[in-house]
Amino acid sequence: MTVLVLGGAGYIGSHMVDRLVERGEEKVVVVDSLVTGHRAAVNPAAKFYQGDLADQDFMRRVFHENPDIDAVIHFAAFSLVAESMGNPLKYFDNNTAGMIKLLEVMNEVGVKRIVFSSTAATYGIPDSMPIHEDDPQRPINPYGESKLMMEKIMRWSDAAYGIKFVALRYFNVAGAKPDGSIGEDHNPETHLLPIVLQVAQGKRDMLKIFGNDYNTPDGTNVRDYVHPFDLADAHILAVKYLRDGNPSDAFNLGSSTGFSNLQILEAARRVTGKEIPAQMAPRRPGDPDTLIAASDKARSVLGWKPQFDNIDKIIASAWAWHSTHPNGYDDRN
Ligand code: UFG
Repeated sequence: MTVLVLGGAGYIGSHMVDRLVERGEEKVVVVDSLVTGHRAAVNPAAKFYQGDLADQDFMRRVFHENPDIDAVIHFAAFSLVAESMGNPLKYFDNNTAGMIKLLEVMNEVGVKRIVFSSTAATYGIPDSMPIHEDDPQRPINPYGESKLMMEKIMRWSDAAYGIKFVALRYFNVAGAKPDGSIGEDHNPETHLLPIVLQVAQGKRDMLKIFGNDYNTPDGTNVRDYVHPFDLADAHILAVKYLRDGNPSDAFNLGSSTGFSNLQILEAARRVTGKEIPAQMAPRRPGDPDTLIAASDKARSVLGWKPQFDNIDKIIASAWAWHSTHPNGYDDRN
């Protein structure tokens, strides 16, 4: 059997590919446009194709050259909330329309299983915490909307063509392979932990904490952090779940524990031993007070057991990457 990983040169996708290769149970084919991904992030044991999943002739060639592909894992999407507010069509085109193009080819070649990255952003501002899978999905930005549309498209494609899917709704992803060989390298970087660690490295002067008047214990936003290796394991379990003939479904992936932005800063100071200057700044538009996942369903149905259950461990793994790769993959012109 062969699994096709779309977006396998990205932050989470590269950890997925690495995990699959190290497990050694099946062949791994990777497709990535390298628009945001990095070729050097892809484990060399995987077969790599550079191209866009919306290019149907290209995707037909990938499937025809690898006839053993029986499952697709799809990470190839844009994911910046602020960018999506300014340029929603970029998100509906790449994420949503891209999914339609992909499903057409999958249906044509008879590959009927897909595990896809969804997001906590599909829930919008939740009514209650922790968030359960059947809570209302009311996205407040085009990024979340594009992912919710992908979930809906998949539901109808299952009904009509029998393409089975698992939608995995990630909360806040953080951390890197603990040996420091692959990690997070975005341009621009907008996420909290990499920014905190860039301050620790001296690449930025200070952290700006966006808002300290939220309805949370210390006034800063609370988020639920999950490690990309634990996400990768959930995808492996989800592929198995589909191969076992189970019905399409959606699962939250988080640790079920929340950390405030100030708690992340304190933990990063502890782990790195650096001072990490920080100051309070105005709220960033669109940040909900608190986002914490109920992930019992992934644990009970998929048998998911996250290993990175401690925030210091997650931060230490990210620091292993940042401290050894001050310029990330160093592949920008
Ligand atoms: N933050 C700062 N300073 C910074 C960067 C971030 O204070 O320089 C704060 C944010 O305001 C927020 C927290 O750190 O309170 C986490 O922010 P991130 O940008 O790291 O992550 P988000 O919670 O905004 O986003 C994550 C995913 C999105 C997903 C969203 C779901 O990255 O893909 O959760 O709401 F859509």
